[in-house]
Amino acid sequence: MGIHILPLFCYLFVVTFSYSEISMATDILRQFQAISDIDNGTLVSVGKVFQLGFFTPGNSKRRYLGIWYNNIPSQTVVWVANRYNPLDDSSGVLRIENDGNLVLLDQKERVAWSTNTVNLSSRNIVAQLLDTGNLVLRDERNGNSENYVWQSFDHPCDAMLAGMKLGWDLRIGLNRYLTSWKSADDPSPGDFSYGIEIQGLAQLVLQKGGAKMFRSGPWNGVEFNGISVSPNLAFIPKIINNAEEVYVGFSLSNESTLTMSELSYYGVFKFLVWDNSYFRWSVLNSLPRDECDTYGQCGPNAICTFSDARICSCLTGYKPIFPQDWDILIWAGGCIQNTPLNCSAGEGFIELEGVKMPDLLQILVEPSLSLEECRLECLKNCSCTAYANSAATGGGTGCLLWFADLIDMKKLTLPGSQKLYIRAGASDLGTCVWFGLMYM
Ligand SMILES: *[C@@H]1O[C@H](CO)[C@@H](O)[C@H](O)[C@H]1NC(C)=O
Ligand SMILES: *[C@@H]1O[C@H](CO)[C@@H](O)[C@H](O)[C@H]1NC(C)=O
Ligand SMILES: *[C@@H]1O[C@H](CO)[C@@H](O)[C@H](O)[C@H]1NC(C)=O
Ligand SMILES: *[C@@H]1O[C@H](CO)[C@@H](O)[C@H](O)[C@H]1NC(C)=O
Ligand SMILES: *[C@@H]1O[C@H](CO)[C@@H](O)[C@H](O)[C@H]1NC(C)=O
Repeated sequence: MGIHILPLFCYLFVVTFSYSEISMATDILRQFQAISDIDNGTLVSVGKVFQLGFFTPGNSKRRYLGIWYNNIPSQTVVWVANRYNPLDDSSGVLRIENDGNLVLLDQKERVAWSTNTVNLSSRNIVAQLLDTGNLVLRDERNGNSENYVWQSFDHPCDAMLAGMKLGWDLRIGLNRYLTSWKSADDPSPGDFSYGIEIQGLAQLVLQKGGAKMFRSGPWNGVEFNGISVSPNLAFIPKIINNAEEVYVGFSLSNESTLTMSELSYYGVFKFLVWDNSYFRWSVLNSLPRDECDTYGQCGPNAICTFSDARICSCLTGYKPIFPQDWDILIWAGGCIQNTPLNCSAGEGFIELEGVKMPDLLQILVEPSLSLEECRLECLKNCSCTAYANSAATGGGTGCLLWFADLIDMKKLTLPGSQKLYIRAGASDLGTCVWFGLMYM
């Protein structure tokens, strides 16, 4: 026993004499101050919107440092510091080290989590919980400037708040994306992630264990081609795509509305608004929305139409690879060309309107080409299967070429401004088509 008493004693000594506990609710933690679980220590943002402290999720027995909405009855955690390293007891202490980093220590002074931002030593660092839900480290001499040396908004967990950026800061190679909790009781990273992929063009992608589950369709300068953001009174979407940053975010039309979007542990991305009448979160919108949002639902070279009894149909000039499967509504095999395209005379293109563009698997983006130049470019390369304008701005500009199979197309309910041109042989160009689709 004697062996164990000494370290414990030292620990208490250090905390009592070197670090003063924060007792009154404050939004700022300074050097030589500490927040400890055992004293129910918290930070509360100035407008009392968010609180930072220790919590135990659901039926778990473990302790986490997190941020939650302060003034609502159901504890809604929006960020967790030590999701990789839960604490087994209430010995956790949060403080700012001599080097300026914010650290979470356990009973044995082991680091369970740290901001890990090197070289802050020369500065006068404080941690502050803002009314946006952002926990920031900044130099106190910089006043309230937004020149943060570290911020939790750059290290999201499963939740996105107003003002947060989901996506890339290309200048420093930072990619911010959401990862789901493992379960309602376990904030450690689960299988699902949601973020922006940049492959020629930007698109939002929801993945499970690295496999795509849902994608938004490419950003065309106006919208993500496959999701129409329905206008609503709470969220004002913000999308930035330039040489420095590629991200999505949102602001609020009424600052006092409580909102968040969240990637649930079962893989659904939801937009939530706090309902003050019923004291619960209500879901404004969620993704994926229907069967046709499921990535590659119909297999290659097919299009998914949710309102159809048979949701999958082959593109014109294509037929099911496994017709027996398609007869019993097993779509994944997809479709193949009726006659292989080989650049023979008479090949051309069929125009499709109001579809989610195929995934950007084997593509080429030529921003300076016109639509007609794009057509000629596609026509002269026998493995080019489709083309479209790469941007919808200015009535359509630029050129996007697809090679090989076309994956994950969906008939959109609101026809977008972009048209897709699918390569077809001479015999298919004359066929009577409706919306470019040939029904089996
Ligand atoms: C911390 O909160 C718990 C539960 O509300 C309470 O029982 C305990 O006395 C508090 N501890 C301190 C030091 O305030
Ligand atoms: C750390 O900061 C000091 C003073 O600002 C600077 O001279 C030094 O190069 C920095 N070191 C690193 C590794 O950035
Ligand atoms: C914002 O919401 C609050 C609470 O619901 C409401 O009282 C207020 O009137 C709203 N403000 C505006 C400008 O709509
Ligand atoms: C190209 O395809 C057409 C139609 O299937 C076929 O008639 C022709 O023989 C093919 N040409 C070559 C060179 O393979
Ligand atoms: C067709 O395009 C693909 C993809 O860009 C390229 O790899 C291939 O070399 C091109 N073929 C011809 C004949 O230009």
